[in-house]
Amino acid sequence: MKNNITREDLNEVIKLLKSQDPKLTSGPNVVEFEKKWSEWLGVKYSVFVNSGSSSNLLAIAWLKKKYPHGGKIIVPPFTWSSDISSVLWMGFDPEFVDINIKTLAIDEDKLEEKISMHEDIRAIFLTHAQGINGLTEKIYNLCKKNKILLIEDVCESHGVNSIFEKKAGSIGDISCFSFYYAHHMSTIEGGMVCTNDKEIYEFLIMSRAHGMLRESQDLNIQNSYKEEYPDLNPLFIFPIKGFNLRNNEIGAIIGINQLKRLDEMIKIRKDNFLYFLNGLPSWAFKDFNLKGQSNYAFNLILKEKDDSLMNHLQETLIRNGIEFRKGSAGGGNQIRQPYVRSLKKYSDDQIPIDFPISDHIHFYSMYIGNYPSLDIKEIDFLLEKINVIK
Ligand SMILES: Cc1ncc(COP(=O)(O)O)c(C=O)c1O
Repeated sequence: MKNNITREDLNEVIKLLKSQDPKLTSGPNVVEFEKKWSEWLGVKYSVFVNSGSSSNLLAIAWLKKKYPHGGKIIVPPFTWSSDISSVLWMGFDPEFVDINIKTLAIDEDKLEEKISMHEDIRAIFLTHAQGINGLTEKIYNLCKKNKILLIEDVCESHGVNSIFEKKAGSIGDISCFSFYYAHHMSTIEGGMVCTNDKEIYEFLIMSRAHGMLRESQDLNIQNSYKEEYPDLNPLFIFPIKGFNLRNNEIGAIIGINQLKRLDEMIKIRKDNFLYFLNGLPSWAFKDFNLKGQSNYAFNLILKEKDDSLMNHLQETLIRNGIEFRKGSAGGGNQIRQPYVRSLKKYSDDQIPIDFPISDHIHFYSMYIGNYPSLDIKEIDFLLEKINVIK
C-alpha cells in the first residue's frame, strides 16, 4: 500500500490541532464518522474502535453474553488470526469449515454438512476475504433456518456488493471492518463494528468503553440501572464486563475525510484487479466469484500443486523487487499455526488433511499489493515478470 493517508487527510487533522483547546479523545468527530459510515454501509448502528481485531473481539463478546456456556462457532481456516483467537478467548469452540476457492470463504455445502452434525453451533464467523464476496444465499438461509447468528468479517473487503444487492457487512447480525493502513481506507489503526440490532448496539457501545452505563444511547436503560443501584455514582455504573477499545478524534477526522473518496478508490482497485487477472498466464487460477468484488490485493493462486513453479515465482518477484505475501491473508491455513495446534483436538502430530483448499492457498498462493496510486505501467511490469515463468 502507498499513499493511503494523504496530505489532504493530514491537513484536516492539522485544522483540528490548530483549533482552540482541541478535544482529541473520542468526541463529536467519532460520532459523526460512525453516522456517516452507517449511511455508507446501509446499517443502523456503527461503533468506531481501535482496530479490526477489536471489532472481532466485540462481536464474539456479544456471543459470549448471549451464550455464557459457550458452544461452537464456525470459522474458516483461511482468515486472519484475530477471528479465531477472539473465539478462543471468549471460550467458544472453533469449528473449522474449509473454503470454496471461488469465493475464498466458507464453502456452503461443507457448511450445510457441518451444521447437520452439531446442535450447539451458535454462529458462523464468515470472512469476506480479499475483496471477494463470500456470502451466498444458501449460507444466509442456513443461518436463518437453524437460528445461527451470522457475523461478517469485512476487514479486507470494504464495498463488496454481496447478496440481495446489499453491501457486505450490512446483512449479518454483526459485521467487522478494519481501517489498518493497507486496507481500502485507513484511520492509521482502527475498525468499525456494525449492526442493525439495537440491543447488540447498546452492548457494543458500552463494552467498547469499559462497560460504562453512561455510554448507553438509551435513556430507559440508563434510568433503570440508576434506579436499581442508587448507591452507585451514576457516572460510574458498569453493567457490562467491558474493555477499552476506543478510537479517538484524530482517527475519526481521517476516517471522515477518507470516506469521501472511498468509492472512487474502490473503483480503481477493482479495475486494477480485472486488468491483472486478464493478464495472468494459464497456470494461474482466475475463476473467482467476481460479482460485486472490491479487490484488496492481487490474488495469485496456482491452479496445480507445483512446488517448482511456486519457488520460481517467488524468486522472480524477489529478484525484481516486487513485494508479496505467500499464503495470502493471514499466511494461509490457520490450523497450521501454533496457537491453533495447541488446542487438544488439533494437537496430534498429523496436520488435519480435510481442509484441502485452505492448504492449497497456504502453499501455492500469494497476494501482491493493489492500491489506487498503482500505475498501469507497474501492473504491466508485474505481469511481464509473471508471464515469463513456466
Ligand atoms: C479478515 C481480517 N480480520 C481482521 C483483521 C484485523 O484487523 P486489524 O489489523 O485492524 O486489527 C484483519 C487484518 O488485516 C483481516 O484481514
